[in-house]
Amino acid sequence: MVIPMTRQIPHIPQIPPELWTCDLLEEDSLHEVRCVECGKCGMADKVYQQDLEGFVVAVFEHYGAPTREAEIIASNLVSADLRGIASHGVARLGRYISGIKAGYICPGIEFGVEEPVPAIGVIDAYNGVGQVVSDKAMRMAIDKAKINGVGLVTVKNSNHYGIAGYWVQLALEHKMIGISMTNAAPLVIPTHGAKALLGTNPIAMGVPTASGSPILIDFATSVVPRGKLEVYDRNRKQMPVGWTVDDKGYDCQNPGLVLRNLLDRVGGGILPLGGRGEEFGGHKGFCMAIMVDLLCGVLSGSGYGDDVHNLKREVPEGEVAAPRVGHFFMALDIEKFMPLAEFEARAQGFVDMVRENPKALDQERVFLPGEKEQERTRLHTTHGIPLSDVVYNTLRKVAGNIGLEPPPSVAERARARALATGRKDGGDNG
Ligand SMILES: NC(=O)c1ccc[n+]([C@@H]2O[C@H](COP(=O)([O-])OP(=O)(O)OC[C@H]3O[C@@H](n4cnc5c(N)ncnc54)[C@H](O)[C@@H]3O)[C@@H](O)[C@H]2O)c1
Repeated sequence: MVIPMTRQIPHIPQIPPELWTCDLLEEDSLHEVRCVECGKCGMADKVYQQDLEGFVVAVFEHYGAPTREAEIIASNLVSADLRGIASHGVARLGRYISGIKAGYICPGIEFGVEEPVPAIGVIDAYNGVGQVVSDKAMRMAIDKAKINGVGLVTVKNSNHYGIAGYWVQLALEHKMIGISMTNAAPLVIPTHGAKALLGTNPIAMGVPTASGSPILIDFATSVVPRGKLEVYDRNRKQMPVGWTVDDKGYDCQNPGLVLRNLLDRVGGGILPLGGRGEEFGGHKGFCMAIMVDLLCGVLSGSGYGDDVHNLKREVPEGEVAAPRVGHFFMALDIEKFMPLAEFEARAQGFVDMVRENPKALDQERVFLPGEKEQERTRLHTTHGIPLSDVVYNTLRKVAGNIGLEPPPSVAERARARALATGRKDGGDNG
């Protein structure tokens, strides 16, 4: 008889109660992490994509978004959940609603659009919804690329735009290479610095291949996203050394302390990709975050560095301090470089070359960027999107506040179907 080996769960030291400094738990914080990383996620229920999108549309319509805008927001948020990036999916609903209520996310705004030369667009979002202006900007970049080979659009005075990879997907639909970046609230420490100055500033690039599955690179330029700290804080666990530093710039393993420091903007924060100092290339992650901010913040005319999402900034009476997030979008028409089929075959050759690489000991597969998300999307499209208890309860709360029904779970849908079939069968039998 083969006795299955029990999997060793690594011991993660707990934070002693006297060092609990942050209690973002239930009140302010929503569940912001991929399900697989969360010890507490009950994985209670799944919801079908259409039900989730329908719900999000109804919520944003309630808060004043025109239907088309609500659909864009819903598509972007739910696409994150579909890909298993729960930190940027419907878990964010509460924050968006707070932004609308506070007056710094403004649905239904007309954007200021300038086209100084045919290949370039310069947009002022006037505090409109991040997703709505990003949809406009990326589509504009694509149209420009069709004519000029390349389209570049910057956006200023915007809000959170969700996952960066969603926007390059729009270019992929036109068989173009897409690039998207955004700056974000300051959470990341400069190399050798001690106070968060830059956002987690993600970069995304999508490239079509002959198989139809694109290479989709989409990542933050920090070691970890904030959501990961929140999970460790919730579970009272110490973080590994190398994720964050305290207000003196020393390694810090207490997630609550770092989160509290970030909220109060007193110092400390998350390390850039590559970690602390220069030994493992932290300075290069720092450089990448700077690059994103130069294009998204400085070049666009938006906020940059620690001026992004500075809601405590002094503003003239009657005005609301806005996040002033900036984005950068680019589309490249491959046909202007070489025949599309030739490019796709070459890109496919690249993919195959990577796949065929000898596997490291104990590994079965070398992944291409985007592959894991594509597989999760297929799974979630068929079987429903898993929502943690915390997120589902938040949706119920949001629904209750505005007299809506929360989205039905897959189980509820199945029960309703079974009941309907049972009634039909009963009728037939009788
Ligand atoms: N809007 C914002 O302000 C903001 C800020 C930060 C992050 N984000 C979003 O958060 C999401 C998550 O970012 P993240 O940095 O945590 O991502 P991550 O660390 O999970 O990295 C994701 C990227 O790495 C690829 N990948 C994963 N495993 C791989 C492997 N073994 N081999 C090759 N490639 C692999 C994925 O396909 C994907 O392209 C992104 O969608 C990002 O756009 C948004």
